[in-house]
Amino acid sequence: MKKNVLLEQAHAILTSLVSPEDIMVDMTMGNGHDTLFLSSLAKEVYAFDIQEKALEKTKQKVGHLTHVHLICDSHENILDYVQSFKGVIFNLGYLPQGDKSITTKTETTLNTLHTLLPLLKKEGFIQLVVYPGHEEGRREDKAIQDWIKTLNPHLFHITESRFIHEEKNPPYMLMIYKTKDESD
Ligand SMILES: C[S@@+](CC[C@H](N)C(=O)[O-])C[C@H]1O[C@@H](n2cnc3c(N)ncnc32)[C@H](O)[C@@H]1O
Repeated sequence: MKKNVLLEQAHAILTSLVSPEDIMVDMTMGNGHDTLFLSSLAKEVYAFDIQEKALEKTKQKVGHLTHVHLICDSHENILDYVQSFKGVIFNLGYLPQGDKSITTKTETTLNTLHTLLPLLKKEGFIQLVVYPGHEEGRREDKAIQDWIKTLNPHLFHITESRFIHEEKNPPYMLMIYKTKDESD
C-alpha cells in the first residue's frame, strides 16, 4: 500500500514532465508496469532488464507497441542502444515475486549514473525509487546518497519523497533535475 503511494507519486511526476515528443528510458523494466506507463506518455521508450523473465512479462503488456524497445542487457550498456533522451527512471531492487538474489547492484547502478550524467540535457531528469529495506539496497542507498552530494547545485535540483513515519528503511523516491547547461 505505502509503496504504491510512492509509485503513484513517481507516475504523477512523469506525467507532468514527459511530452509526446520525448524519448524515455526505463532502466529496470521488471514486470513492465513502468514501461507500460511511459509508453502512454512518450514518443519512444527504451527499457532494460538483465532477466529474460522480465522481458517475457513486459512483452505481454507492450509487445504490440512499435515505439517501445525491450532490451535484455544491463543498463550499464545504455550507450550501445540510445544516446539521447529526456529522462530515465530506475525502480531499484529485485523483481517482485521473482528471484531476490537478482537485484540491482551498487557498483552497477553507480557506474550507470556516472554514464548518464553527461548525457542529461537541460530539463532532463533521473528518477530513482530506492529500496533500503534489504542488504544490497542499503549499500545502494548509501552510495547514491554520497553521489548526489557531489552534484553541482547550480546545474541540478534534487528532491526526495519519503515516508516519515515508517521506521524500517522504507522505499523513497529521488528526482534529479538538470536545470541548466554547463554553458548557461
Ligand atoms: C524492482 S524491479 C523493477 C520493477 C519495474 N519497474 C516494474 O514496473 O515492474 C528491478 C528490476 O531491475 C532489474 N535489474 C537488476 N540489475 C539490472 C541491470 N544491471 N540492468 C537492468 N536491469 C537490472 C532486475 O532484474 C529487476 O527486474
